[in-house]
Amino acid sequence: MTLPKLYAQAQDFMPINGTDYLELYVSNAKQAAHFYKSAFGFSSLAYAGLETGLRDRESYVVVQDKIRIVLTSPLKSGTDYGRHIDQHGDGVKVTALWVDDATYAYNAAIERGARSYMEPVREEDQHGYVVRSGIYTYGEVVHIFVERNNYNGIFLPGFQKWETHYNPEPVGLKFVDHMVGNVELGQMNYWVEFYEKVMGFTQILSFDDKEISTEYTALMSKVMSNGNGRIKFPINEPAPGKKRSQVDEYLDYYEGAGVQHIAVATDNIIDTVTKLRDRGVEFLRVPGTYYDTLLDRVGQIDEDLAPLRELGILVDRDDEGYLLQIFTRTIQARPTMFFEIIQRKGATSFGKGNFKALFEALEREQELRGTL
Ligand code: FE2
Repeated sequence: MTLPKLYAQAQDFMPINGTDYLELYVSNAKQAAHFYKSAFGFSSLAYAGLETGLRDRESYVVVQDKIRIVLTSPLKSGTDYGRHIDQHGDGVKVTALWVDDATYAYNAAIERGARSYMEPVREEDQHGYVVRSGIYTYGEVVHIFVERNNYNGIFLPGFQKWETHYNPEPVGLKFVDHMVGNVELGQMNYWVEFYEKVMGFTQILSFDDKEISTEYTALMSKVMSNGNGRIKFPINEPAPGKKRSQVDEYLDYYEGAGVQHIAVATDNIIDTVTKLRDRGVEFLRVPGTYYDTLLDRVGQIDEDLAPLRELGILVDRDDEGYLLQIFTRTIQARPTMFFEIIQRKGATSFGKGNFKALFEALEREQELRGTL
């Protein structure tokens, strides 16, 4: 397979096979897991808690195709899980990366200046062993390297299979396409250099505040990718504007830098979004006029315009093809994290042509919250 030209220059001293799992610290893991199942079409996978010997927390793991989400809540006061939730609300704590050698990945990152979160630990049970290690990135978010070539259990040692009668039909979500971080004003380039230096990522795209701006607000963004293009981390920072940008609102309510959105890929966005909508997932809406000029802008597409208009799905084109995308409203009490659903038909970019319409939609929501 030839890689898109954007990725060709990455120096891959840290090979990453893909996203292993995402762990969110949430105030009620049992109920959050039900939400991910009933609304987003995930299935029960694994559980750890009192019954498996944990005393201070419990975790539910849900799965859909290659996407694994761990939802963790404290079982008592005074834990770091509880402190994290008190400060940030529900949010992503861990982006776990699947590697062949978690000790090598850790040593390579630490040598290049990463801050340690967890030294390499070998964990085992009757299904084999895994090695995990971890480093900090922006805010309190961490990357955990997972080496699982010698493990064939359900998830990780310490977890038991989560048996349940209720596993709704999946909605067609396949894998994590990219994960976006919001960082403080003036910090974007610091974290761009961190991913270049510590993890060997390459900057593949950059958007300045002239490209991502509306009448009122602006932000800047750079997209970092690992060598094989399977891991893509856009990083946003706010830019000065007449009013407060969506990134400012995020930083205020998350009380620091963190994960803004997780983009998940589907092969059939019309079917996926129809199912999500029917299960109660709410999406951002752009004005109907967006569709009046859409085909003039993006040219011929395979899909009918009517369902795209009805569902509010956006389309953009780059040199390599086109993509379809839509954004959920924020999914927890605080106006912080949301999901993107994306279907790529050749395009390797991120929907630049939709930024303006999208940010205006976000600002209408901010206006309602009184945070613009
Ligand atoms: Fe995105």
